[in-house]
Amino acid sequence: MSQISHIDPAAADALRSYLDHSGFSGIYKFIVGANLYTVLPSVINTSSVGQVTGFFDEVLGDDPDVTLLRCLIAGETVERERLDGRQSELADGLIEGGILQGRDGRIGPTTFQLISAFGRDLLIDRRINFGGGIHEIYIGFDSYAMVHHIQQSRLLRGGRAVDLCCGSGIAALYMSQFCDSVVGTDIGEAPLALSRFNRRLNGCDDRVEIREQRLEATLEGPERFDVLTCNPPFVAYPPGLNGTLYSKGPDIDGQGYVRQIIEALPRVLNPGGAAYLVTDLVGDAARPHFMAELDVYARKLGLQIDVYVDNRIEAEVQVEPMAGYLHGLNPEISVEDLRRRFRAFQADDLRASHYHMSTIRLVTDAPAPRLRMLRRFPVPHTPAEPKWPPILEFA
Ligand SMILES: C[S@@+](CC[C@H](N)C(=O)[O-])C[C@H]1O[C@@H](n2cnc3c(N)ncnc32)[C@H](O)[C@@H]1O
Repeated sequence: MSQISHIDPAAADALRSYLDHSGFSGIYKFIVGANLYTVLPSVINTSSVGQVTGFFDEVLGDDPDVTLLRCLIAGETVERERLDGRQSELADGLIEGGILQGRDGRIGPTTFQLISAFGRDLLIDRRINFGGGIHEIYIGFDSYAMVHHIQQSRLLRGGRAVDLCCGSGIAALYMSQFCDSVVGTDIGEAPLALSRFNRRLNGCDDRVEIREQRLEATLEGPERFDVLTCNPPFVAYPPGLNGTLYSKGPDIDGQGYVRQIIEALPRVLNPGGAAYLVTDLVGDAARPHFMAELDVYARKLGLQIDVYVDNRIEAEVQVEPMAGYLHGLNPEISVEDLRRRFRAFQADDLRASHYHMSTIRLVTDAPAPRLRMLRRFPVPHTPAEPKWPPILEFA
């Protein structure tokens, strides 16, 4: 069983009191707010970590209250003798809970990284940002973009919200700041354990139900919601290859879950309810192919649909990272062969020259069906790119 599935929920209480004492969420916001307009709270990674540790050295100096934060957010190893009695006791609790590890007088990270996003403090799988093997739980730019697009005024205190495929719990925990009854569902052992830990860390055991349930069953069940969110597995894999639970989407283009959810919306949402689905849609340079299907859904189901395209990349940009990732999951096939198969799949099956990373907002009971697409800037996709592009670009 993985380290993540073993995480001890009781360690959340010790971590909570340390984070409050150290002023963690303020420090974290200050660090990741460097770009001012960024909506990406998970920017501490292999390429930026030197700046973060430099910030701790230069600005926070020897403040003992933040020493453990260096391990938790930046993955540093620190000497135990730098900790005072209270911090040392806390470190022992976090080591026992599996959140940190201690060896030879030094304390360092395990599989976890601490972030703060949209008012919630979260442990995530640090391999996403620091490498060291295939991560077990996904969280990424698309997760943050989806939460960013949720309209808070739709989340009423007495209302009900659901996040299908909850992963680390980010969307469910975000919505519980505005809504007293939230359900998060998943089927993976590790995401279920981590989202329960994060729920306790944020003190919302009474408001958020984390449920082991397939999204198909939630959609067929009797419950109704005012807001539904989902970042489902949506990656299109060439047929016959192994994939991960969090990424491989049904149907040839990976959009099988997106289709199932949209078709169920008139039944699952309360009148006037809204859904936010995030997905990567293949298409040409101008638009995703899926727009034609969305047009049919809007008319057939009486929906108002806005597609917020947060990023667009050329299909070729996906080839190298996907070939490496697929090789990790299908080691019997060479990277060269996977590159070739993936390119052919993009050209022949997907007819994809571009990928459009999008949040789809769907509103039921609309006065008239509507479909719009809003495009924004492309995000730099390599750390080597020198600077962010202009804030709005429509090319
Ligand atoms: C792309 S991840 C999204 C995680 C999280 N919502 C986020 O945005 O950071 C997809 C999640 O769906 C879960 N999952 C996969 N198939 C599922 C199904 N049929 N029903 C419910 N959850 C599923 C996976 O375990 C994984 O945690």
